[in-house]
Amino acid sequence: MLTFLWKSTIFYFLIFNNLMLFILTAIEEDPNIPAIVQYFNTKGRYEEVNPYLKEDILFVNRSILQPASAECQQIHLSAIIRHGTRYPTTRKIKEIRQLYNTVLHNATGEDSWLHEILTKWTMWYTEDMDGRLVQKGVNDLKHLAIRMSKLFPSLISEEKLQGGVIKFTTSSKHRCVNSTLSFKAGLTELWDIRDKEFDHAVNDSLMRFFDECRRFVQEVDNNHSAIVEVDKFKQGPEMRRVQEKMANRLQVPHSLISQAAFNLCAYEFAIKAVNSPWCQLFDEDDAKVMEYASDLREFWKRGHGYDINSKASCILFHDVFSRLNKAADEIKSGQQVSEAVTVQIGHADTLLPLLTLLGFFKDSDPLTSTNYATQAQRSFRTSRMLPYAANLLLVLYDCGGGDLRLQPLLNEKPVTFPGLTEQQASMPPYQDVKERYRELLQGCDFETECQLLKHPVEV
Ligand SMILES: *[C@@H]1O[C@H](CO)[C@@H](O)[C@H](O)[C@H]1NC(C)=O
Ligand SMILES: *[C@@H]1O[C@H](CO)[C@@H](O)[C@H](O)[C@H]1NC(C)=O
Ligand SMILES: *[C@@H]1O[C@H](CO)[C@@H](O)[C@H](O)[C@H]1NC(C)=O
Ligand SMILES: *[C@@H]1O[C@H](CO)[C@@H](O)[C@H](O)[C@H]1NC(C)=O
Ligand SMILES: *[C@@H]1O[C@H](CO)[C@@H](O)[C@H](O)[C@H]1NC(C)=O
Repeated sequence: MLTFLWKSTIFYFLIFNNLMLFILTAIEEDPNIPAIVQYFNTKGRYEEVNPYLKEDILFVNRSILQPASAECQQIHLSAIIRHGTRYPTTRKIKEIRQLYNTVLHNATGEDSWLHEILTKWTMWYTEDMDGRLVQKGVNDLKHLAIRMSKLFPSLISEEKLQGGVIKFTTSSKHRCVNSTLSFKAGLTELWDIRDKEFDHAVNDSLMRFFDECRRFVQEVDNNHSAIVEVDKFKQGPEMRRVQEKMANRLQVPHSLISQAAFNLCAYEFAIKAVNSPWCQLFDEDDAKVMEYASDLREFWKRGHGYDINSKASCILFHDVFSRLNKAADEIKSGQQVSEAVTVQIGHADTLLPLLTLLGFFKDSDPLTSTNYATQAQRSFRTSRMLPYAANLLLVLYDCGGGDLRLQPLLNEKPVTFPGLTEQQASMPPYQDVKERYRELLQGCDFETECQLLKHPVEV
């Protein structure tokens, strides 16, 4: 009897789930949203990662934090945030122009979307847009700031901002500086503060460490052999099939224009919220292949592919932990926390090495040119990890009696530090976190890791 009940419960549960899936699929097929929107890598909207925001961009569910006990109080927050939605860089805009010219002059076909490209679409991108923050990007950061003030009301508060204990640091790139200004504007507009400006520091050693880590630059960033897997994949069977399909749709000889077209679809949606005719060049299978090609690149250039990729972020790692330690020490000795919140704004290239260093998104096998199929369920998916305004939030709690906890959130969702047991779940004792990263805390020296190894050390 019990088994029967159990089985029928599962049965109805499955029916219910399928029904929900059906309804959700129906919602997904909004004509204004590209069918391939889940696969845009680092060019995706933040709303795709947290779909509830499509309904209400300021929605926050504080219950997700699930404190270890009712006594736990938020005492410090370190936020590392990627800039918001931006224009393509000049190099990407040149590629887009080339794609457009090729299609305009040489493409033929009966499809309505091609007709639309040829007659209605205009090449509206200009080179001076060069990666700048767009209006949507301003809103990304304003809205994130407001949501964070709701999620951490005792930390991101008017009192703390006015009291100067919320610190801002940014990369020098205009899109990051403007993202920082937007984040601050989100708060000052929320609290109607008009008579005061709040400083930010520009620090590229910290937020653009990848440029200053010489070993990384030489061995990976400027070394084409380091991403040989990407080239191999681009010449491999999966990618060739995508290019052939594209060539057939456009009746142009197949070339390397697929990446530019895919980027263009993503940009048009992120920047202007339109489902551009360019998106019709790809079906879902194509998009998954394109997504993999970019993930492969990120994996070898910023992810687990080479040790130096993540070690380049040692400076940021220590910066974050030294602040956490300081806050912990201040609490233990009964003082006020002198730096309640640090907001640090940088790039996908800032966040990914740090997440990698902390051990996130490590699959059992590396991503290669030949394991596309077996990597279908990989955790390393930049589309999920690094949309515009992606963020890593580290929240320190004082749960009373010297019990300090550290909760990591990625894109506003609690996550578990890799290697810590489930029992410690999303709010482990701070001491356990320090134990987990002991080796890095004692080593991981930026200068040592990043120096060039011209001659092997003689013994
Ligand atoms: C809020 O989060 C809690 C815990 O995850 C969940 O049980 C609840 O359904 C969520 N509420 C809403 C309105 O999303
Ligand atoms: C169009 O095709 C011709 C012949 O393949 C080629 O020479 C020309 O460069 C193409 N035009 C553009 C704008 O790509
Ligand atoms: C950044 O903001 C400033 C001041 O609000 C504005 O003048 C400038 O055009 C913006 N720059 C970019 C790159 O968006
Ligand atoms: C470039 O990368 C390859 C593959 O990792 C490596 O063998 C080679 O030493 C690198 N070259 C330099 C100059 O570091
Ligand atoms: C940038 O941050 C690093 C690490 O915290 C620090 O050592 C350095 O002094 C800062 N540089 C500037 C210019 O503030």
